[in-house]
Parts: sequence; C-alpha cells; structure tokens
Amino acid sequence: QQRITTSTIKQKKDKQMPITMLTAYDYTMAKIIDGAGIDMLLVGDSLGNVVLGYESTLPVTMDEMIHHVKAVSRGAKRAMIVADMPFMSYQVSAAEALRNAGRFLKETAAQAVKIEGGQEMVAAIKSLVQAGIPVMGHLGLTPQSVHQLGGYKVQGKSEQAAKKLLEDAKALETGGVFALVLECVPSPLARIITESAGIPTIGIGAGPYCDGQVLVINDLLGINPGNTPKFVKQYANLHEHIAAAVTAYKKDVNERVFPGPEHSFTLDDIVLRKL
Ligand code: KIV
Ligand code: NA
Repeated sequence: QQRITTSTIKQKKDKQMPITMLTAYDYTMAKIIDGAGIDMLLVGDSLGNVVLGYESTLPVTMDEMIHHVKAVSRGAKRAMIVADMPFMSYQVSAAEALRNAGRFLKETAAQAVKIEGGQEMVAAIKSLVQAGIPVMGHLGLTPQSVHQLGGYKVQGKSEQAAKKLLEDAKALETGGVFALVLECVPSPLARIITESAGIPTIGIGAGPYCDGQVLVINDLLGINPGNTPKFVKQYANLHEHIAAAVTAYKKDVNERVFPGPEHSFTLDDIVLRKL
C-alpha cells in the first residue's frame, strides 16, 4: 500500500477528486481512520482543546505535539501525516520556524507541517520549503489569533476582509504551500479561492466548493458533549454510547455481575486442595 504524498494530493485536485482529511491525536484512532482510507491525518493543535482540556490552542507546546504526532505516526500506514505547528513555534523568526518544523520531520513520521496566517508568514514558509519541508497554509478563522479576532467567528465577510483573504491565499501559494486550509469562510469566497488557486483548498466551515474537507475527529464522532459548531456534521453520538457503557459497567461491578465465570480463570482442584 502506497503512502499518500503531496503529489497525490495535488493530483486529486487536478482530477477534481475530493480530498479527505481528519484530525487524529493517538495511535488507536489514527489506525482506524487510516484503515478507512482517509487521505490525510492532521495532528491538529486542537489537541489542546479536545485532548488536553485547555481553553484554547495557545498553551500547546512543541513537546506535546511531538508526543502525539509520534503516536499517530505508529498508527498510520497510508495516510499523509500533517503536524500542526503550535502557537509561538514559528512566529518569532523564520529560523525558529525551520528548527521546530525540522523537529517534526526528524522525530516523527510527519510528512508536512501546517502554519496559520497569511502574507506575514511567507518568509517562514519559504525557509521551510527551501529545506524540503512541505507546508500547509491555514486562513480564515485561525484559532491561534483568537484574541486578535475577538472570538471564534466567520471570517472574510466584508469586502475588505474578503479581499485580504484572497491576497493572503495568493501570497501563500506563491510562498510555496502545497495546500491551504480555509476555516469558517463564506462558501462563495472559498469557491473563488479554490477556483483561482493551483493548490488544493481543504475546508472546515468553508462550504462545498473546496477541493477537500477536514473535521476534528472528536466532533464527527460526537465524543465531546456540549455545543458543536454549525459546520460540524455529527456522524455518531459516541458521548452517549461511552457514558452508557461506563454506567452499565459500574452497575455490574456494584451488583457483582461482572466478572462472570466466562471472564475468570480456573485453578485445578488438585492444586486448590493443597492451598
Ligand atoms: O487544529 C486543528 O484541528 C485544525 C483543523 C481544524 C484544521 O487546525
Ligand atoms: Na490547528
């Protein structure tokens, strides 16, 4: 089975075949998603929210990311693995961006990294691309800038903001990104970007015209209870299934129904009589 690469992803856009991407944070989930034939696994810094329990993605460190990208690397045999660069691992300088991106490729099986931001990130992106590290861009709602954006909301709604997004997309493509995530962008704007770009766009809350789609696996599975964003389609309600299973286990243990004989090991009577 051949590993998906940046060329596979590009070919899919050229053939107008949809590209599938999901987040993964651990070995088991990566193995399931990979086995289902998803093209790309993103070890997102959404790790902070959905796995580590942080309020935002800002506290996530390089070491935390490396730990989880390693786990995902062991589970995925076919999917292309993309590692999210966490807040402050690439903003200070192009040199620091290169050193940190390099860590992902040296210490894990990540094949590419993802960086949030537009024109202001082009210098960093170029230094990575020159070193042979594929970079995925990320525009629209960029959660690492939540305090500047004033919350998690749709981006590019005004003429000025939409034009800025178009310019940023062009700048990133010229800068050498192999694909571009568009998060919480109006569908018609995502369509214009997708149709004018030579690189694939991967949408999340960016409508049906993108070349591919990405979702946070926990959202798709309904693992985390509470409000799910409008753009999420929940394909399962694992939260309810997990809670019900755990409750049934608790009841069985309390009523001494579990473990039964079928879950227990026997001892020969001869041995038992000697004890
Ligand atoms: O961290 C993440 O999960 C992401 C995706 C939502 C694109 O960046
Ligand atoms: Na992210």
